[in-house]
Amino acid sequence: MGWTEAELQQYREQGFLIRRSLLSADEVAALNGQVPGLLGGDEARDGMHRERERSGAIRQVYLAHRHCPPYRQLARHPSILGPVRRILDNDAYIWHSKLNTKEAFEGTVWLWHTDYGYWQHDGVDPRMLTVMVLLDRATPYNGSMMVVPGSHRWPMLEHHADTETTSYRQWCVTVPALKAHLREEDIVPVTGEPGDAMFFDCNLPHGSGHNMSPLPRRTFLIVYNDSGNKPRPVAEPRPDWVVAREFEVVG
Ligand code: SIN
Ligand code: MN
Repeated sequence: MGWTEAELQQYREQGFLIRRSLLSADEVAALNGQVPGLLGGDEARDGMHRERERSGAIRQVYLAHRHCPPYRQLARHPSILGPVRRILDNDAYIWHSKLNTKEAFEGTVWLWHTDYGYWQHDGVDPRMLTVMVLLDRATPYNGSMMVVPGSHRWPMLEHHADTETTSYRQWCVTVPALKAHLREEDIVPVTGEPGDAMFFDCNLPHGSGHNMSPLPRRTFLIVYNDSGNKPRPVAEPRPDWVVAREFEVVG
């Protein structure tokens, strides 16, 4: 389903837009049916990249959109690509995709960050966005995402590398920068049902807490980049699973 002008305007003003029931129950079931294989796959053979929690549980699986047909189809879904093209005002290619698993009791935090906080170092401009599709119900108990409407227009917040909090080296907003900008009353939780999707700007600060619930919180995130915004050479280029060198225009 396409977006109205008012919805596009809302996305531009708030930095994100949530579309309820973007996927049907059958589409969600097809994606969830592949999750055990994605979690248990053999990295050396299936071409996907996996990150683990300190407990050993899978934290993320990168590149399902290249190797797993239902995810490949999702990344080309007309209800996603139509708005993506309107937002970018251009064609898009896929920068990367990740299944964020946040397993029951083990899945842990994503500190506050903006995605462009990372990507600015990859030689691109901020003409990028992410579509996050909920594969499970997301609640305050299982570590749903948090955002602040309009915060994509804040000045670029100072980021640093956190290597202590989780198993994953997170490029996140410094505590002084958070204290200077983030007010409790402005935080909005991104809760919802399987099949709901959030489109969000690469400059929108976001984060999420530990999964304290017996239910996993799986989400699939697809990042789209403007096809005219391919990475310029940088001193330390990151691998293809996180900064794609496949520039196929989708759709
Ligand atoms: C992300 O920022 O990529 C992940 C956030 C989350 O899964 O809560
Ligand atoms: Mn992020």
